[in-house]
Amino acid sequence: MPLRPKRVLFVASECFPLIKTGGLADVIGALPLVLARDGLEVHVLLPAFPAVKKAAQKQEKLSAIPSLFGGNASLLRAASENGLKLYLLDAPHLFDVPGNPYQGSDGKDRPDNCRRFAALAKVAADLAAGELINDWHADILHAHDWQAGLSAAYLRTKKNCTTKTIFTIHNLAFQGLFPKTTFAELGLPKEMFSQEGLEYWDQVGFLKAGIIYSDWVTTVSPTYAREIQTDDSGMGLGGLLRSCSGKVSGIRNGIDTDIWNPETDHTLAKPFSPRAITGKAANKKAVQQEVGLDPHAARPLFCVISRLTEQKGLDLLVGAIPHLVGNGGQLAVLGTGDKAIEQAFIAAARTHPGHVSVKIGYDEALAHRLQAGADAIFVPSRFEPCGLTQLCALRYGTIPIVARVGGLADTVVDANEAALMAGAGNGVQFSPVNFDRLVSATDRFLDLFRNPKILTTLRRRAMKQDVSWALPAKAYATIYNGLTRET
Ligand code: ADP
Ligand code: GLC
Repeated sequence: MPLRPKRVLFVASECFPLIKTGGLADVIGALPLVLARDGLEVHVLLPAFPAVKKAAQKQEKLSAIPSLFGGNASLLRAASENGLKLYLLDAPHLFDVPGNPYQGSDGKDRPDNCRRFAALAKVAADLAAGELINDWHADILHAHDWQAGLSAAYLRTKKNCTTKTIFTIHNLAFQGLFPKTTFAELGLPKEMFSQEGLEYWDQVGFLKAGIIYSDWVTTVSPTYAREIQTDDSGMGLGGLLRSCSGKVSGIRNGIDTDIWNPETDHTLAKPFSPRAITGKAANKKAVQQEVGLDPHAARPLFCVISRLTEQKGLDLLVGAIPHLVGNGGQLAVLGTGDKAIEQAFIAAARTHPGHVSVKIGYDEALAHRLQAGADAIFVPSRFEPCGLTQLCALRYGTIPIVARVGGLADTVVDANEAALMAGAGNGVQFSPVNFDRLVSATDRFLDLFRNPKILTTLRRRAMKQDVSWALPAKAYATIYNGLTRET
């Protein structure tokens, strides 16, 4: 065991508050801080996208990295405003593009994504192995999602390297697949392009590489860990994940309970807490006005804060809007994604003015105000590795109505009769994910809404649920300890 704190190097493509397209960024922005509080030394390696370079503080050049996938690069040390220790891969020829980190302004994946994220993984391995900074190597290299998937493959090519690797799958749907012709430019041994390696149906699979070459694989909830080991939900990798089930586990995500704290949240109309839960009413009124809904306290206000994609099942919700409005409900949608789903919500808002509102776009502050003001949030996902919006909702006393899949099944307790009798329940679950079950889940919430005493009990219980990173961080630390015990 080293006498110094164990060193963990996270490598990822997103990190809140520097750059974010989804929950991955929230995880990378919060988990290292909690691990550090528990005594680990954690750094996060990120590509120096323009937004990252603009927001990162205390930037300092550490080393030059000549000829990295077609250009010269450097490694910077930096910090984020919330205290994360960062390493930035400054490679302008790869990352100096504004906006979405993966796609061009045409909404298509960038043609050089293979090279861009191979570079990130290669630098992660070199850095972890102690080749880039004097007297510094990582005990653990913790790579996240396909963008960092090649890290363990590059590390495998090094002799006498004691660094252990862990790979976290945040979403199996994004596998980082590239034509086999790209393999030659990766600089990896040719044996790796095989079925036992990173070859996937004659393509290069970055996510597959992460699974194959890492010492441990996690995903972001126990239920999703089981689901992805089946042929039905394994997205083509179920068999592989089953075959290495001895090194696969699920740890549910948490949220940053300082950022998501209804007692101190400056974006809200009024702070509130489990004790002063009536404060939610002022937030409801304010957000109804803000998004153009009739400011009626008695109307149940449902919200959606989401990427608008097939995964999230929101096309089903579009169909349920007449039922919801017909029963006195209101719906506020904040999201962006598939044009067809966006258009469907926009059309519904036109048909039901004052009852349905839609904001297409990304708005962090409005997400907070909706969580504070809404009575319920819909998360009807077809699959959901963990999901974070239901955790934020619980923290803000907003009842999650969720599909019983993945991390939604692991974090929401259905408030059925038995649960209520046992003093449990904080949301509504439905299964299978279809229109009828979504409508009946909505009706079940409406029943709860008509009973203010039960509703208040549920809200208080939700707000007291531990949705923090405290327990999950301990579970990661246990894996790190297990991996490094003999080194
Ligand atoms: P995913 O990563 O699959 O998109 P998660 O629930 O894990 O889903 O995380 C989504 C994160 O992005 C949450 O922090 C949520 O609040 C945020 N989010 C999603 N869409 C929007 C939006 N349109 N505006 C603001 N925040 C959003
Ligand atoms: C992915 C998943 C989501 C998860 C997030 C963070 O984007 O879709 O369920 O919460 O990663 O792990």
